[in-house]
Amino acid sequence: MNSRLSLLLFLFLVIVPLSRSSIFKTFSSITSPKSPLSSIVLPLSGNVFPLGYYSVLLKIGNPPKAFQFDIDTGSDVTWVQCNAPCSGCTVGPPFQYTPKANTVPCSDPICSALHWPNKPQCPNPKEQCDYEVEYADQGSSMGALVTDQFPLTTLNGAIVQPRLAFGCGYDQSFPSAHPPPATAGVLGLGKGKISILSQLVSAGVTRNVVGHCLSSKGGGYLFFGDNLIPSTGVAWTPLLSPDNHYTTGAAEILFNGKPTGLKGLKLIFDTGSSYTYFNSKTYQTIVKLIETDLKATPLKDAKEDKTLPICWKGAKPFKSVLDVKTYFKTLTINFTNGRKNTQLQIPPESYLIISNTGNVCLGLLNGSEVGLQDSNVIGDISMQGLMVIYDNEKQQLGWVTADCNKLPRS
Ligand SMILES: *[C@@H]1O[C@H](CO)[C@@H](O)[C@H](O)[C@H]1NC(C)=O
Ligand SMILES: *[C@@H]1O[C@H](CO)[C@@H](O)[C@H](O)[C@H]1NC(C)=O
Repeated sequence: MNSRLSLLLFLFLVIVPLSRSSIFKTFSSITSPKSPLSSIVLPLSGNVFPLGYYSVLLKIGNPPKAFQFDIDTGSDVTWVQCNAPCSGCTVGPPFQYTPKANTVPCSDPICSALHWPNKPQCPNPKEQCDYEVEYADQGSSMGALVTDQFPLTTLNGAIVQPRLAFGCGYDQSFPSAHPPPATAGVLGLGKGKISILSQLVSAGVTRNVVGHCLSSKGGGYLFFGDNLIPSTGVAWTPLLSPDNHYTTGAAEILFNGKPTGLKGLKLIFDTGSSYTYFNSKTYQTIVKLIETDLKATPLKDAKEDKTLPICWKGAKPFKSVLDVKTYFKTLTINFTNGRKNTQLQIPPESYLIISNTGNVCLGLLNGSEVGLQDSNVIGDISMQGLMVIYDNEKQQLGWVTADCNKLPRS
């Protein structure tokens, strides 16, 4: 099953074998080109199924070379598969980053930002700044922090070239249950100091806002900065702080507009996750409600379909979620923390997929099964057709229905 769950679980300092360290020469720190605050819009490719991720092409270096990144609001560290040489790389050398003498020394403040709130272990200040990230699906990447230029065009047409720090990942691993993505790396869009967003803010390029519009037809766009936020129609709910993730709540879940008794939920918004995860109790309640409804329909269990844990078949294979939409109800997340009537609608097309054999499968998964414990994660599937805005300036998360196929101009 091609599902991703790139929510960051661990970030540690690792002792890297010397043979690898010696590949890098250490020097340099980050320079911050100051320019007027603008926004940057980048087209996305990818889909929920069959790919399981949305990705962006970003250029790095001078002369610039493009790399494909899986966009991830559930983690902070950006990394790219690195020709240093590489172990566990899933893309070939033409798509790997080749480090020059641009490793960040562990005495650099950006290395402390990477390891915050812990301190980097730094017996020799000139030693490279190592990182290791491990995601909830047990994928991991290990390597050294480097800096390089990221040429970007802002909405007002200016070209900026901030020097940003990212991981040069020369040791990746992916558990067999989750095949590695075809992307060269991960774009960390979280709110930590090491994230690409925080670095663009420090470099004076954009405000501390990131957002995306994931199209159900595939593709969409990603943006940095606040110029694209519609002035009306956006539903906003506070982001919980302190919290490492973009977490909202408390919320209750309604099924077909009616209370389910599921209350006090916190939800993490995570583009690194293909599907939506609920804690065991919430998952069980929702599955029961859906299954009760389906008794009165021609849909039958399709246990033989292993695309996702729960699939149903009809008399004939389905082509689109629209074929089965009438058999399913809308889930509503009702935010009960103060603001009036803030709701996130999750219609059937935002929690179902059609498998390769034409069955309909439930894109809501049991988070307890993958070690998320009590966390609930809103993944790509439930953010389709919405502009989702992570506003770290005002500590709030917003969403509004949008046409994600049209790249906005201003
Ligand atoms: C949603 O939550 C608000 C705030 O707690 C509450 O007033 C409202 O009745 C809820 N809506 C529904 C349909 O339960
Ligand atoms: C969810 O996963 C947990 C942990 O594996 C398991 O104990 C529980 O029974 C599962 N819940 C459902 C409804 O399948």
